[in-house]
Amino acid sequence: MAEGVYPVPERLLQDGQEKPFIDSLEKYKAMWTESIKHPETFFAKLAKDLLSWSMPFETVQNGSFVDGNVGWFLEGELNAAYNCIDRHAFQHPDKVALIHEGDEPDNVRKFTYDQLLREVCRLANVLRSFDVRKGDTVIIYMPMIPEAVFAMLACARIGAIHSVVFAGFSAESLRDRIRDCGTRLVITADEGRRGGRSIATKFIVDEALQGIDTVERVLVCRRTGAEVNWVQNRDVWYHEEILKARPYCPPMSMNAEDPLFILYTSGSTGTPKGVMHSTAGYLLEAAATVKYVFDCHDEDIFACMADIGWITGHSYIVYGPLALGVTTVLFESTPTYPDPSRFWRIIDQHKITHFYTAPTALRALRRLGDEWVQKWDLSTLRVIGSVGEPINPETWEWYYQKVGQSRCAVVDTYWQTETGSIVISPLPGAVAMKPGSATVPFFGIEPVILDPHTGERLEGDSVSGVLAIAKPWPSMARTLYNNHQRYMDTYFNVYRGYYFTGDGASRDKDGYYWIGGRVDDVINVSGHRLSTAEIESALVAHEAASEAAVIGGHDDLTGQSIHAFCTLKPGVESVEGLEKELILHVRRAIGPFATPKRVYVVHDVPKTRSGKIMRRILRKIVDNEADQIGDTSTLANPHVIQDLIKQLKTHIVA
Ligand code: WT7
Repeated sequence: MAEGVYPVPERLLQDGQEKPFIDSLEKYKAMWTESIKHPETFFAKLAKDLLSWSMPFETVQNGSFVDGNVGWFLEGELNAAYNCIDRHAFQHPDKVALIHEGDEPDNVRKFTYDQLLREVCRLANVLRSFDVRKGDTVIIYMPMIPEAVFAMLACARIGAIHSVVFAGFSAESLRDRIRDCGTRLVITADEGRRGGRSIATKFIVDEALQGIDTVERVLVCRRTGAEVNWVQNRDVWYHEEILKARPYCPPMSMNAEDPLFILYTSGSTGTPKGVMHSTAGYLLEAAATVKYVFDCHDEDIFACMADIGWITGHSYIVYGPLALGVTTVLFESTPTYPDPSRFWRIIDQHKITHFYTAPTALRALRRLGDEWVQKWDLSTLRVIGSVGEPINPETWEWYYQKVGQSRCAVVDTYWQTETGSIVISPLPGAVAMKPGSATVPFFGIEPVILDPHTGERLEGDSVSGVLAIAKPWPSMARTLYNNHQRYMDTYFNVYRGYYFTGDGASRDKDGYYWIGGRVDDVINVSGHRLSTAEIESALVAHEAASEAAVIGGHDDLTGQSIHAFCTLKPGVESVEGLEKELILHVRRAIGPFATPKRVYVVHDVPKTRSGKIMRRILRKIVDNEADQIGDTSTLANPHVIQDLIKQLKTHIVA
């Protein structure tokens, strides 16, 4: 093996272990080629193997990127909740479907498939009693508790479209999302618990609902029992309603292309995009990637540490593992509570076989020292995954050696909210790993590297440019809620005939893909996606601010961090503490995860003669690469660069 290449771990191929579903590179290549040459036969077979249909499909795939009308399994009907629960509850009612690891270490709740069926049916009946119907949207704003999973599946069961909003979002951000999808029902909890602290979830919902008149009901789950404000005729308790409901609710037969959910994500303008996913195509590939990318078998215990408020939680806590009928883990706390061994303790305690987290968590844990990992029995692990941002080789090696004990496959999985499921990743039993590379495409995915300027497809090995995908795949987003034009413009009209990912990437001599990071105005902080425009509009809403420019600076821990340059309104003087206040202002406006690392109050920012802020230059200044700024003669105000460099230097010293 060449240096920097890690072969498929011996352990996965040994007798006595579960044999990998795909156990050689040749097999992967043959299947991938088949999936690209004959996608219809390939995915028809997969869809029949992995999903249960109440009505068979006839047309496997339809539509194109140019028309933006992609559909899969067209006449087919099925129900996602039935696929995730009922069929497994019939087969093995007592198998554990969901393990909830609470905020406090020994606070564990387990639900078998049979129990999951009853919980979800009851809640589905509660939703029906509120007159929630097929096609209605339901907002879920909840901590990481089992009821959040029940809520998603209860919606799916009756054909309502859930829109989970990450519980770290502020009232204002929640309000924008409620308004955008015009929902009548919000499901929430009294409080959340995270890292030993309480979060005033219901309070945030109450704030968010000010000025909203569509919401008729707020269903409140009791998590801590804290006293909460109560709005008569609007708020109802989850535990009370559930008692009135029958524990069986027939699943609604849905068309394959009926929407399963909306999930808002940041784009390059201030307004978040409501990414909409289909029922069958989405569910199929969520399941297929758990099976093939993670090589997950029936008796495995799958633990994804993401939050259900992001796509990773949707696909790899809820829909993927449950559609396959395996055991999934829902983790309420943080990696460092009560101490930095929490992840490893969970793996030991629950005998986890598959573990999935983000590089930023691994980087933080690695810094805290190996002793936290070494105390625990991690021998059940077979596949460990990474997602959300490029993983630097040092962190990869640490993950491989200390967590995987040099016996496990590490899958660096590249995908996006819009792709629905993993699109580039090694397969544990088949593809040799290279630290830092997401490696090879999943079935049905034809990645291409385009020249960013001409849009020309760069063929062959050792090329770099922007990453696009050449053909529709089942789990791709179908539209942006109420804004199909934006969907077309963002993904398909940038490079005609291709799906544009927004990422830069290269392909090496072995055909492996290396993801470089976003080439648009999206920044990635700890694997959380934020738009610079969204933060800028939060800043200029502050009374002192006139203009703001936000960039992602390099950060050893979080990948990128938010740096904001802010000019003040005429007549407003910069006072001590203003920068801090602006930081807090953004935090309040969007949510704690969007807290800028620095806000610099400045006199001016570099601009072109037409008034466009040159963020590229700001980025160089923040990253200490001012010597690489290059020609500034086209700027309207080239002198500001030296001023900024000076100002930032004094900041850093301070
Ligand atoms: C963006 C999508 C879908 C997972 C959670 C994030 C970056 C994601 C990787 C990876 C390098 C990655 C990309 C992508 N990204 N995974 N393995 N290597 N970069 O979902 O919020 O939709 O963000 O995350 O930049 O475009 P998201």
